[in-house]
This record gives sequence, structure tokens and C-alpha cells, in this order.
Amino acid sequence: MIYLMMFLIKMHHMSLQEVKLIDLPKILDDRGNLSFFESNSQIPFEIKRVYWIYDVPGGEQRGGHAYHDLEEVVVALSGSFDVVLHDGNMEKTFTLNRSYYGLYIPKMIWRHIENFSTNSLALIAADKAYNAENYIRDFEFFRQMKTNAAYRI
Ligand code: TYD
Repeated sequence: MIYLMMFLIKMHHMSLQEVKLIDLPKILDDRGNLSFFESNSQIPFEIKRVYWIYDVPGGEQRGGHAYHDLEEVVVALSGSFDVVLHDGNMEKTFTLNRSYYGLYIPKMIWRHIENFSTNSLALIAADKAYNAENYIRDFEFFRQMKTNAAYRI
């Protein structure tokens, strides 16, 4: 029982401290620059899915959810936008505007993305396939889960 409690506490305790801005490799060249990431190397998981967000109309937001069990890395391949993160306790905003930074977001962190510049392109690598059941779309429910580790028993 004690191990189950410890597991549940660990599962929900992901905080903004686990979020990392990863400095991706930059191969500078007169012909133009090149950056990259690979699974379990520059980024800390095996990539199962990549998706991208583009043509966002001015003033729109994306996201507005957390994942029960999904890790992501977000890269601003072009333009800029703000990734606003919340761990149920604190909020932190990361402005991404360089294609050689990857923002690592662990599971159970609430996020939305705003302030998309014209022609911005957000690339997101995830460690799991798409599954609608992995989403938490109610912020109050998310906060309850974060503050009460036994909530899902
Ligand atoms: P959603 O994750 O809600 O978008 P965002 O968080 O960026 O605002 O996804 C929007 C729609 O796209 C939703 O109907 C599910 C679908 N979708 C997929 O089919 N596969 C995917 O990999 C993603 C990210 C979304």
C-alpha cells in the first residue's frame, strides 16, 4: 500500500522544475544552419509522434490541457510564440523564438500556447501516439489531481 501511495504521489508531482529548455545542436555553415534531435539523446524519450501547428490566426490560443501520461518537446521552427505552463501550483511562460531550443514538458503539466507571430510554426515531438483519453481538459480537475494524489484510486 505504501508503495502504491508513493507511486501515485510521484505520478502527480511533476512540477515546473522538471520542465527543461534544451539547447539543441547547431551546425553553423555558410550554406545555412542545421539543428536536429534524436530519441533518447538530445531529448529524453523515444519519439512516437510528431505534429505541428501553423497558420494560427492572430490572437488565437492552442492547447489548454494537460496529459495524464505524455511527454513532449516543443520547438519554434519559425517565428515565435509563448508556451504558458502550470503545475497546479505555479505558472511559468517560455517564449520560444529560436529553432535551436526545445522545450521539454513532462506529463501532468497544464499548457497553452499563445502570442503566435505571423507565419510561426510550432513542431511538437511526443512519446506516445494520439489518444483523446490521455487529455485532461478541465483545469479544476487537473488542480485536484495535483493536490490529491489519491484522487484516481
Ligand atoms: P488538440 O490536441 O486539441 O490541439 P491543441 O492542443 O494544439 O490545441 O487537437 C486538435 C484536434 O486534432 C483534435 O480533434 C485531435 C486532433 N489530433 C490528432 O488527430 N492527432 C494528433 O496528434 C493531435 C495533436 C491532434
